[in-house]
Amino acid sequence: HMKRRKRWNNYPPGPVSFPFVGNLLQVNFQCPRLLSEKFGKIISLQIGWKNVVLLNGLEAVKEALVQRSEDFADRPPFSLFDHMGIMMARYGHGWKELRRFTLSTLRNFGLGKKSLDQRVTEEAGCLCSAFSSKYGHPFNPRFLINSAVGNVMCSLTFGNRFEYNDEKFQRMLHLIEEAFNIGAGIMSQVILDMMPWLLYIPGPHHNVFQPYTDSFDILREIVKEHKETRDPGFTRDFIDAFLEEIEKAKMDPESTFSEDNLIFTVFDMFGAATETTTVTLCWALLYMLRYPDVQKSVSIFPGRVHEEIDKVIGRDRSPDIEDQVNLPYTNAVIYETQRYCDVVFAGVPRTTYRDTEVQGFFIPKGTIILTVLSSVLKDETVWEKPHEFYPEHFLDADGQFVKREAFLPFSAGRRMCLGEQLARKELFLFFTTLLQHFTFHIPEDQPRPRDDGYYVLIHSPDSYELCASPR
Ligand code: HEM
Repeated sequence: HMKRRKRWNNYPPGPVSFPFVGNLLQVNFQCPRLLSEKFGKIISLQIGWKNVVLLNGLEAVKEALVQRSEDFADRPPFSLFDHMGIMMARYGHGWKELRRFTLSTLRNFGLGKKSLDQRVTEEAGCLCSAFSSKYGHPFNPRFLINSAVGNVMCSLTFGNRFEYNDEKFQRMLHLIEEAFNIGAGIMSQVILDMMPWLLYIPGPHHNVFQPYTDSFDILREIVKEHKETRDPGFTRDFIDAFLEEIEKAKMDPESTFSEDNLIFTVFDMFGAATETTTVTLCWALLYMLRYPDVQKSVSIFPGRVHEEIDKVIGRDRSPDIEDQVNLPYTNAVIYETQRYCDVVFAGVPRTTYRDTEVQGFFIPKGTIILTVLSSVLKDETVWEKPHEFYPEHFLDADGQFVKREAFLPFSAGRRMCLGEQLARKELFLFFTTLLQHFTFHIPEDQPRPRDDGYYVLIHSPDSYELCASPR
């Protein structure tokens, strides 16, 4: 295998080779920085018999994802889950059809009786009540945030939300988290797919699939209920919209809309939506603990989050999405949270759809591409203070909000995050509503929470506790 890449002229440089999966652990994404120092921004790795290319920095990532969007639009073949909704689907007709449908359906919510904004606002209120019920005592916010984020997805897909302590609801969230941790992530996907023989060895790793099968069973049950109670004239939610599409598709032999694909797609979206958004919000509150002067005004810095919310929204009404334009500082804090916490640090693996090139390097069709989003969000040639939490990255001299080209937490190009709009709404409405109602601080006798966290598939904070004092 070592010989193979020598045949290509101009193939990117890289370390000798990674004959065993164990070597993959070297690619633990602190590592691209070290590799970059030695090999440059575009690095080839050979992992098992697979060719992998890492792209680092704004220029390389942008060239691949934006300028050569279609060349990089495929995903690696994951033999284990052949037809997995949108996220892992190969680039082609099925993916296109499904992505178009899902985007337009999410945009039209609107489905049923409530708008998407209303659903998120309502959930933000519920989240606040749940925080209040802690009476200022220390707690880990993850459970409640995860429930609120999960509920928005439930509301969109199933038509209803659940109480946070509902057993079925928590079981479902738990399964999705488990499945996500096990399989949907970058590394384990690559590893498992490289070692299909692992599947034939009896042993504990077989449990790997239990959370999937269990989740699918729950979803199948929910779809069945939908079919029984559906009124064809009235679309209640995503599942109803999909069922309509299946009916229409009966005439179309090319169509990939099917009940199995519905289950996969819903599962896929829950996986993509809940962990990422939950973890981002956990980081946001953690940063409020670490940087109290961002949360609150300390005399010399005017316009901090609390003050800005008080001035623009006050205490009597709920924030709505239109407030965003009038809250530049708060908005900058949310953007900076996403930049600095760097949730999907290595992107989601892509594959080249045809022979192509980046920055003059040749990359053959079928190469696995890791777009190291971290290296863009912390690109030292772009950001003033790449390794610090610095909301001013998104503010101009007049304190107005500015967009930045290297802000790519949702990636770019035709496979970029499909839930960006939804995620933005949730981050803004949840964060603003919480900060309107509470001051967050570190519980007495507990250390300042760390901001390094751990990198497994996504970059999560170590678990921490906070106190939420009513304002
Ligand atoms: C894909 C980030 C929330 C649905 C992705 C990708 C990233 C990402 C980096 C990979 C794109 C690529 O390959 O270039 C995030 C972040 C989120 C978030 C940081 C929250 C803070 C959501 C939500 C949904 C969602 C709420 C649900 C509606 C998806 C889907 C894909 C995806 C379906 C696969 C797209 C495709 O392959 O065509 N996301 N995401 N994400 N995301 Fe998100």
